[in-house]
Amino acid sequence: MTNLAIAANGLRKSYGDKTVLGGVDLAVEEGTIFSLLGPNGAGKTTSVKILSTLISPDPASGEIRVGGHDLATDPQAVRAAIGVTGQFSAVDGLITGEENMLLMADLHHLSKREGRKVTAELLERFDLTEAAKKPASTYSGGMKRRLDLAMTLVGNPRIIFLDEPTTGLDPRSRHNMWQIIRELVSDGVTVFLTTQLLDEADELADRIAVLNDGKIAAQGTAEELKRLIPGGHVRLRFTDPAAYQSAASALGEATLPHARLRSRGGTPVDESLTLQIPSDGSQRELRSILDWLDSVGIEADELTVHTPDLDDVFFALTGGSGVPNQPRETVR
Ligand SMILES: Nc1ncnc2c1ncn2[C@@H]1O[C@H](COP(=O)(O)OP(=O)(O)O)[C@@H](O)[C@H]1O
Ligand SMILES: [Mg+2]
Repeated sequence: MTNLAIAANGLRKSYGDKTVLGGVDLAVEEGTIFSLLGPNGAGKTTSVKILSTLISPDPASGEIRVGGHDLATDPQAVRAAIGVTGQFSAVDGLITGEENMLLMADLHHLSKREGRKVTAELLERFDLTEAAKKPASTYSGGMKRRLDLAMTLVGNPRIIFLDEPTTGLDPRSRHNMWQIIRELVSDGVTVFLTTQLLDEADELADRIAVLNDGKIAAQGTAEELKRLIPGGHVRLRFTDPAAYQSAASALGEATLPHARLRSRGGTPVDESLTLQIPSDGSQRELRSILDWLDSVGIEADELTVHTPDLDDVFFALTGGSGVPNQPRETVR
């Protein structure tokens, strides 16, 4: 399993009698974006803190390896391989962006010359050159986040933990950050990203784990997760009203268990000339639908497969305890 950047078995953490993580298994392949998705209080930050050696897991946890190193026996090697951008900014507002960067370079024991070089490159890369000599307290939220990430990159980490990197950012800054994250991965870096935002996980992540109440509710690609829950369908569109009518009546009489006629999101079906057949989008169901269409001689002008979006998945898996796209407090 040498290609795993992060591998955790039975990650556990309790405070007193409160279980924060109740046995979490994680496997993150090198060079990918992994998203830990969950509502406030799910245990995301706790997971990041453990994996980045900031706090210890409970002794009952299984083996945890980060960057190929055992967290328990070789935390120094783990630290050398990773960078962490915490949920709350590490930027010192009283000094300039450039000074923040140079401080990081010092912490990483870079020479003065190397420190200046890396600082200039990263400030340029994150579009902060112009603001470099201004106090960081004057930066916008997006600029502070970019500076935070630039500081994380000073040590040239192979694995980066980003804890809710876009929470609180406006849509434009969020898209900007997404672009930066994609570039990191194209350079071969592994990104462990936590988020409460379904669209963010959907947009960026190769794999997503849905964390709810200290447990992984489901894990997979966005597509795999969407297939887990009902709500998907195959949509048939017709241009010829007569073809549509005969298809509609054939479908109405169909004996397939999943062939059920539904109108399309409130639009009168006969106006849009569209039919929907519930389906999980799997190859087997698609084949049975196509076979049935052939057998009754229906030829649609357009056939599309729709899987439910992550919102549906999230609500189904977390029992509706998460409100997507909106930070919330967990009341206990
Ligand atoms: N040091 C601590 N002591 C007691 N409870 C904690 C501590 N840190 C976190 N928790 C609790 O653990 C749960 C998960 O917290 P956290 O990992 O910060 O969640 P998230 O980052 O997903 O919002 C929360 O209920 C939180 O109150
Ligand atoms: Mg958190």
